[in-house]
Amino acid sequence: MLPLIKTSIPPKHQLIPRLEEILYSGYVAQGQAVEDFERKFEAYIGGGNTLSLNSGTAALHIALILAGVTEGDEVISTPLTAEPTNVAIKMVGAKIRWADVDLATGNISADSIEKAINKKTKAIIVVDYAGIPVDVDRIKQISKKYNIPIIEDAAHALGAKFNGKKTGNHFPFTVYSFQAIKHLTTIDGGALQILDNDLYEKGKIIRWFGLDKKLTRLENDITIQGYKYHMNNVNATIGLVQLENIEELIQKYIDNGKYLDEHLKGISGVELIEYYPNSEPSYWLYTLKVNNRDRFIKMMEKNGIMASELHKRNDLHTYLNDYPTSLPNLDTFYEKMVHIPCGWWVTKDDCYKMIELIKNGW
Ligand SMILES: Cc1ncc(COP(=O)(O)O)c(C=O)c1O
Repeated sequence: MLPLIKTSIPPKHQLIPRLEEILYSGYVAQGQAVEDFERKFEAYIGGGNTLSLNSGTAALHIALILAGVTEGDEVISTPLTAEPTNVAIKMVGAKIRWADVDLATGNISADSIEKAINKKTKAIIVVDYAGIPVDVDRIKQISKKYNIPIIEDAAHALGAKFNGKKTGNHFPFTVYSFQAIKHLTTIDGGALQILDNDLYEKGKIIRWFGLDKKLTRLENDITIQGYKYHMNNVNATIGLVQLENIEELIQKYIDNGKYLDEHLKGISGVELIEYYPNSEPSYWLYTLKVNNRDRFIKMMEKNGIMASELHKRNDLHTYLNDYPTSLPNLDTFYEKMVHIPCGWWVTKDDCYKMIELIKNGW
């Protein structure tokens, strides 16, 4: 079966000597490797400050704290995402206010965000779902108009671009996950890309018990709530090796995604995603809309290809559905949405096979 998702680990000869070196170095906690990973990740993104962490969920949590969200506030978000996006909002005691999606992309709709804003809105989380960049320009305008910070959850969209710049450069906070099946895995891990230098310094303190690593333990005075969210040298070493191959690896997702975009055009029963102008997805999954989705999934499965909607609409989770909301675009989009594989393990022959299968109908 051609899987929808697959873990990418560097070749043994590249990774194992580096891992062995760090494992027996006597320093596996947060140290130089973490520092090196952060500076190298910043260079890859091309801007901002990288706060490396032990998960993407930790990155969401710290972003919400730095955005000033506390108990009783509201955060506008999308139900079309993995659960951590919205679970994190509850971690700070805030309530989730849903915005609908754009029919053409499945990403959070700028118009719907604007309608959902009220006096309690403290932040807006936008998700580059499946690697498709959000409508950056419009969302930036709304943020400016209402003075509400944006947190971009780019866990699916490392290397995706808008106006020629990678995710991580557009909003004050951008969240990455380095969990097992993401474009870049450190086994588990995450990062928060922060544009403001002072908030970056505050983020460092929050990620380590509220302690300032620049001072000794005895000199420290904890004044804010902190957590144990930092990355360690072992995960950072894996990340450093992964970064050596990252451009090449993500390009494979992009090449496959573009090939599918080109060859799935005009097939009866298929609607393709219309990406926002000036955006370049990094195709973590290939997303399309099909008639009779269940039959489509069965047909693909029978032919050795995994296809799935992957995520459950988050508004169907009782705990997350603070304000039940009518979301007509999501209803329509979700009924037809399906993902097919397009990652680094998918060959041109696999793409060709998927295209032929889809052309033959289901
Ligand atoms: C969209 C999205 N946001 C956040 C996360 C959380 O990342 P992590 O699993 O590293 O905590 C994930 C991954 O699980 C995700 O897919």
